[in-house]
Amino acid sequence: MTVLILGGTSEAVALDQHLAEQAPDIRAIISLAGHTADPRPLNLPVRSGGFGGIDGLRRYLVEEGIIAVIDATHPFAAIMPFHAQAACKAEGVPLLAIRRKAWTPMPGDRWTSVLDMEAAVAALGEEPRRVFLTVGRLELPHFADSPRHRYLVRVIEPIGDRLPLHDVTVLQQRGPFLVDEEEALMRSEGVEILVTKNSGGDATAAKLIAARRLGLPVIMVERPPKPDVETVDHIDQVLPWLVAQGLFVTERGV
Ligand SMILES: NC(=O)c1ccc[n+]([C@@H]2O[C@H](COP(=O)([O-])OP(=O)(O)OC[C@H]3O[C@@H](n4cnc5c(N)ncnc54)[C@H](OP(=O)(O)O)[C@@H]3O)[C@@H](O)[C@H]2O)c1
Repeated sequence: MTVLILGGTSEAVALDQHLAEQAPDIRAIISLAGHTADPRPLNLPVRSGGFGGIDGLRRYLVEEGIIAVIDATHPFAAIMPFHAQAACKAEGVPLLAIRRKAWTPMPGDRWTSVLDMEAAVAALGEEPRRVFLTVGRLELPHFADSPRHRYLVRVIEPIGDRLPLHDVTVLQQRGPFLVDEEEALMRSEGVEILVTKNSGGDATAAKLIAARRLGLPVIMVERPPKPDVETVDHIDQVLPWLVAQGLFVTERGV
């Protein structure tokens, strides 16, 4: 009788804290893909690593007695949300996705929206530029195809040899970031263009405001398609959903 939370995001971390405070009796487990060497500490128990495709996840749901799945994977996780949908449907397990809202351009923004990283590389153009890359370390190899640019790269974990170019500056930092500091960074580093994924959320939105203030162009990589499942945009909506499913009773007996 356990709730499975597919994690990897700040929503999963916030949900972990929320459940510890609001529903300490709930039995839940957080699943991480295992890409992060040093994941943040969590209150709930954690399992790590892939399930072995849809069939592996189906087996896991049955063997662990999973009564509901919360998909709190990253907006750019392209496979796991579909596996969750298929496995939950096959085993009759209720599924709820938490999807934070995407960023949308405001007056003064100079965004070019593209569908994937290859298109982002192409959109940088022929002219050498100082490029601020905030796309995650796993996406960096795409930019090795465009060595004429000078890259400022911000990542959470070391990039290893993922961008083996001559002119690369690496900042290893985790958000949230402040607008004034983002603006100062872009000024001091001579940034001419920003490349980012449309992750949404507040923690890393400051760079977009800073780019707007500086009149800088932004290449915005839009999100991959997601399955059509029941969705909320905030962790506060998870407990009411569990209650509505009849899977959890609050202290007030609701
Ligand atoms: N892609 C990004 O831009 C990005 C950015 C920040 C964080 N993340 C986080 O990193 C993780 C993996 O991202 P991804 O892009 O590799 O996802 P993905 O492409 O959707 O998933 C690839 C495979 O990784 C395994 N996997 C993914 N999430 C898992 C989870 N929460 N628990 C157990 N296995 C999981 C699954 O393996 P099996 O098929 O073997 O089950 C899945 O088929 C996710 O938790 C995501 O939230 C991704």
